[in-house]
Amino acid sequence: MKGIILAGGSGSRLHPLTLSVSKQILPVYDKPMIYYPLSVLMLAGIREVLIISTMRDLPAYKELLGDGSRIGMTFSYAVQDKPRGLAEAFTIGAGFIGGDSVCLILGDNVFYGGQFSALLEKAREQTEGAVIFGYPVQNPKSFGVVEFDKSGKVLSVEEKPDKPKSNFAIPGLYFYDNQVVEIAKNITPSARGELEITAVNQVYLDNKQLSVISMGRGIAWLDTGTFDGLLEATEYVSIIQRRQGLYVACIEEIAYRKKYITADKLIRIASDMKNSEYGKYLERIAGEMS
Ligand code: DAU
Repeated sequence: MKGIILAGGSGSRLHPLTLSVSKQILPVYDKPMIYYPLSVLMLAGIREVLIISTMRDLPAYKELLGDGSRIGMTFSYAVQDKPRGLAEAFTIGAGFIGGDSVCLILGDNVFYGGQFSALLEKAREQTEGAVIFGYPVQNPKSFGVVEFDKSGKVLSVEEKPDKPKSNFAIPGLYFYDNQVVEIAKNITPSARGELEITAVNQVYLDNKQLSVISMGRGIAWLDTGTFDGLLEATEYVSIIQRRQGLYVACIEEIAYRKKYITADKLIRIASDMKNSEYGKYLERIAGEMS
């Protein structure tokens, strides 16, 4: 399975001056925002990742993440020149996806919690069709919304509906089989002029191939696309990290725990950052586990 992080422009809800700084390279607490979605793909066991962003921001991502070999991953990069919609990720990424299945995650979505890896495994187990998640929120109107029955069968998906049929938002994390490339090619822009991910999910639903996994209590999903969301995510990560002494979305730690890199490699990475708390944390992890 391949992974795509869509970390491009849009952000119409943020102040324009903020956007003169690459948005997703803004930190969430102590690390770049993109580490959070990247860590999710890594926890799902995905090692080949395409990062899609604007012409302006892509060089900054390349400088930050390189080809991925530092952490045993493979990164490639592609430009989305205009924010035409989330579904464009699959046409831009068609060559990268090839004949494989793919997981898409939005560059501004943060997930964390116990049992989260188990949910990712459950999503990966399904090799046909599409898997989305449902997350209870107080303001479903601001999101894609999924309605499902007691047996977990999806009844409807709607993008930012005026009258939501449930309070389950669809987070920006989606698993698709290879049909998604063809489906994405054939959808048309919505009333707001975007190639909606919800339109892709609607095709899977019409074909009876859309499943939903409910993310219940205990998992945090934060969308950092607004200033309040950004502040909440920073507070959340800082509270967890200071309380537990364990880092959220530390990509080097995940690479080590998943055995993509050796303890020696982790120690070398740590020594390059040894003056920072982050470097000291990596040193500690390498010491604890070797
Ligand atoms: O966060 C989850 C929600 O994400 C879902 O519930 C919705 O169904 C989905 O449409 C999307 O809604 P948003 O209104 O949050 O999407 P937004 O336009 O803010 O874009 C999300 C991120 O994707 C943002 O970091 C910018 C990036 N993006 C967006 C578009 C439209 C791109 O890179 N390219 C694009 O073309």
